[in-house]
Amino acid sequence: MPLKGDGIRLPNRAANQSAKAVRIRTPAKINLILRVLDRRSDGYHNLWSLMQTVALEDELRVQVRSDSTELSLKCDEVSLPTDRRNLVWRAAALVLERAGLQIGLDIEIIKRIPLTAGLGGGSSDAAATIMALNHLLRLGWSGGEMAEVGAVLGSDVPFFFFAPSAIVRGRGEDVAAVRVTGVRWVVLVHPGFPIDTRWAYDRLAATREHVRPLSEQHRRLAGQASLAWQDVIPLMENDFEQPLVPVYDAIREMKARLLTKGAETALLSGSGATVFGIFCDEDSAFRAQASVEQVHGWRGYVGRAGTASLSCREESSDPLQVG
Ligand code: C5P
Repeated sequence: MPLKGDGIRLPNRAANQSAKAVRIRTPAKINLILRVLDRRSDGYHNLWSLMQTVALEDELRVQVRSDSTELSLKCDEVSLPTDRRNLVWRAAALVLERAGLQIGLDIEIIKRIPLTAGLGGGSSDAAATIMALNHLLRLGWSGGEMAEVGAVLGSDVPFFFFAPSAIVRGRGEDVAAVRVTGVRWVVLVHPGFPIDTRWAYDRLAATREHVRPLSEQHRRLAGQASLAWQDVIPLMENDFEQPLVPVYDAIREMKARLLTKGAETALLSGSGATVFGIFCDEDSAFRAQASVEQVHGWRGYVGRAGTASLSCREESSDPLQVG
């Protein structure tokens, strides 16, 4: 599996000897560019995406249990299942299976990233679980090895091991870290309703006549180790906008409001429904957030673009205050 680059921050091994619990902050992602290419024989689509983290983060605490071999998952978001339907549960089970270990774990999640929103929150939490266990259990897996494990769980998971910015291809398993230079602020707008990813892919496939080939300009981006914001912004697009905007007026309305409030550009993230705007400065980003929050049901979030990545912090006391 071609996994290139390594944007990961691994903790100091020597300091790890007595770690029993780790906390890890898990950022959201946006797709600065998302092209959905041909459907594969496994039913998934090949993707071409420039992905980046935003500093809107969930938090996980992972602890090894000494009293049992059960996996216990708690989450402050009551609508999320805490059994094997949860991607964190599946990530933990997969790591233990690959490592050949039968141990118990306590995992706690504090959710801040909206659910089913095109922000990769579940994928980020799953990637964080793999990284936390790699650290706690001293598995010694590289970023590429962790990404390989994550690829089994979902298309967005491998990216987080190469964050904050990367070009992602194939079904999400072919990831190359890239630097995006310059400072930008992101305003995320969530309209208060989810869009189901599988449904969005099906609608995209059903409504387009053919797959538009990747442009030469996008291909050229992939060959560069460093990209400047002013070169990226004119190339930003998302293939999901065409099939989804006619169904959801809110997508067009969120984009329009962000542009009116000074965004350089505004785009749907992933398969939606979150829309984001890119801003040159923090003040105008916060003004735009205040403006979108005036609309009933909309939530706005502000964060620095492309700075957040997964990183573990050891701790031995105080569980997170979950539910
Ligand atoms: O990756 P995830 O499990 O969230 O994907 C949900 C659904 O979206 C898949 O079952 C598939 O129908 C569709 N999908 C796709 N191509 C991708 C990723 C997802 O067709 N690369």
